[in-house]
Amino acid sequence: MGDQIKYLLDESRIPKHWYNIQADLPKPMPPVLHPGTMKPVGPDDLAPLFPMALIMQEVTTEREIEIPEPVRDIYRVWRPAPLFRARRLEQVLGTPARIFYKYEGVSPAGSHKPNTAVAQAFYNKVAGVTRLTTETGAGQWGSSLAFAGALFGIDVTVFQVRVSYDQKPYRRALMESYGARCIPSPSTETEYGRAVLAKRPDHPGSLGIAISEAVEIAAQREDTKYALGSVLNHVLLHQTVVGIEAMEQMQMADAYPDVIVGCTGGGSNFAGIAFPFIGAGLRGGAKPRIVAVEPAACPSLTRGKYAYDFGDTAHMTPLTKMHTLGSTFTPPGFHAGGLRYHGMAPLVSHLKELDLIEAVAYHQTECFAAGIQFARAEGILPAPEANHAVKGAIEEALRCKREGRSETILFNLCGHGHFDMQAYMDYTAGKLTDQQYDEQELAMALSGLPSVPEPA
Ligand SMILES: Cc1ncc(COP(=O)(O)O)c(C=O)c1O
Repeated sequence: MGDQIKYLLDESRIPKHWYNIQADLPKPMPPVLHPGTMKPVGPDDLAPLFPMALIMQEVTTEREIEIPEPVRDIYRVWRPAPLFRARRLEQVLGTPARIFYKYEGVSPAGSHKPNTAVAQAFYNKVAGVTRLTTETGAGQWGSSLAFAGALFGIDVTVFQVRVSYDQKPYRRALMESYGARCIPSPSTETEYGRAVLAKRPDHPGSLGIAISEAVEIAAQREDTKYALGSVLNHVLLHQTVVGIEAMEQMQMADAYPDVIVGCTGGGSNFAGIAFPFIGAGLRGGAKPRIVAVEPAACPSLTRGKYAYDFGDTAHMTPLTKMHTLGSTFTPPGFHAGGLRYHGMAPLVSHLKELDLIEAVAYHQTECFAAGIQFARAEGILPAPEANHAVKGAIEEALRCKREGRSETILFNLCGHGHFDMQAYMDYTAGKLTDQQYDEQELAMALSGLPSVPEPA
């Protein structure tokens, strides 16, 4: 089977545990702080927003967290996801590198997001929650929570970032088909949304604003909790099924990655593929290079400051230490809506500070070009977010060609782009431009970072 392309696992191989990298960190994470007291938050501070089981997953340092059977049962709809060897892309690039990709676009929503949506809906259901609010940037996360809500009988309300709502009407139709309510953000439904619109009626929205709206509603209602599609430790934890499966599939291919590449919005699909491998390295195994790829128009890891900041724009969330562009920063309206977030997952940021990962940034047109090159060789049309990972993997393969090295590259193809055809049409018509963020706005947003006293 020298020329095998697909590496498939049986349903029985769906992981039984999520992997918690907090167990293997050489240095613990900085605490999450209460913005009023500047003291570490306790579980009760988060209880209005999340069920206790998820709050405990935020802080546990246990290495393996058992995946509940009802969650595994639903995972069977699309998991284990396939691992592919991109032989045709290798040929087109003329690289001696071996390129593998894990394909998460086989899920009902078309990306990795249901891996955590199903888990979050399950824990909320067990806690008796009947309504969930959330934000969505690409529409992938909103669709995923809508799908999970339908399975568990939970009402879902999604605040979709305005620019994405306008660009992707079919994402909204998918959410509504699953029974969710989808509202463009900023909206007139919340106090914060109304305040933003009063200042700028044509505001394109941002993930930070949509999070504020969803949190505002959840905080006000006893029967409603909030679900976040990325950033938090428990979300990254749930995504590790991606890397755990990929490890077994790489073994089937008799290969181990030298380089792992993922795109980063809030950090969850990147963590999903990378953390199990990073953990194995921290426990004495091989240490692949780990490359995070982010948009040059919203470059939190490569241009942001590592500092305490709010997760949302209205400052309703606790303070976490992360790479941030400042919570009031509004990224330009480029097409990878899932990457338009001012911050980065605290866990991913912490690993960056520990030099356990690298980060690079690319502009959207070069990422679309990479996505099209990939589609013409491999057939799958990636989501605009995933194009960043494709670009990163191609750059690594071209480096291998220049250096004459036959390294093994693994990347996460975290979603398909079938709801993103307007972006592809704009790209093909030459209408897509590389958007620059406003340096002055960035400086202002960074100057507004909360001042947090250094620990004694
Ligand atoms: C397909 C896809 N990839 C990536 C992302 C970015 O999120 P994360 O960095 O949490 O994986 C999103 C977010 O909406 C997405 O829809």
